[in-house]
Amino acid sequence: MRIAVVGTGYVGLVAGTCFAETGHLVTCVDVDEAKVQTLRRGETPIYEPGLEELLGRNIAAERISFTADLPGAVRGAEVVFIAVGTPQGDDGNADLRVAMKVAHQIADAAERYTVIVNKSTVPVGTAARMQAEVTARTKVPIDVVSNPEFGSSSAPSATAPAGSSPSCTRRSCAPRAPSTSWTPPRPS
Ligand SMILES: NC(=O)c1ccc[n+]([C@@H]2O[C@H](COP(=O)([O-])OP(=O)(O)OC[C@H]3O[C@@H](n4cnc5c(N)ncnc54)[C@H](O)[C@@H]3O)[C@@H](O)[C@H]2O)c1
Repeated sequence: MRIAVVGTGYVGLVAGTCFAETGHLVTCVDVDEAKVQTLRRGETPIYEPGLEELLGRNIAAERISFTADLPGAVRGAEVVFIAVGTPQGDDGNADLRVAMKVAHQIADAAERYTVIVNKSTVPVGTAARMQAEVTARTKVPIDVVSNPEFGSSSAPSATAPAGSSPSCTRRSCAPRAPSTSWTPPRPS
């Protein structure tokens, strides 16, 4: 599958590299041109054990590439992950402006059916809002789905409440299969 990942921070870079390692063709997009150049050389701006090795291997195999050209990456992808920052604002809510702007850019660039996967931390209801805004702009069908980043110790969930912090540390947030050991809380 051809995948684009927008945002090459802790979440986007690890996810994109793991997608490439599992055989997908991945284009990672970032507005930070210096970071794009660093990543093209196979150097990781973050510390994550084993990441640089995986990155180098997949760059060499031409399964992963880096660009600042978001429209180009979107046109070449079937699935586009959004992994940009959604920092907590003064009111405690996640600031969705960058994620929404990226969704608009994807809608403007898409030339055929595309799935937008939101991996950023967002409040409940964001997928519906993003879907409505994307549908209002796009000329092709686009579906928006949620795949938030959580550590394995947190309960499986499709969404996160506004302003919540995921119960994982930066070092423990590589994509994982859903935990099978989780049991739902007993009703009180
Ligand atoms: N880091 C974690 O451990 C962690 C864990 C769970 C959830 N999250 C959530 O995942 C999301 C991403 O977190 P992160 O830590 O990877 O963020 P980050 O700040 O490390 O990385 C974000 C990247 O997006 C890039 N970016 C910003 N605007 C852009 C744009 N318009 N187009 C393309 N790229 C753009 C930035 O240059 C940066 O490289 C956030 O919503 C965060 O809350 C992070």
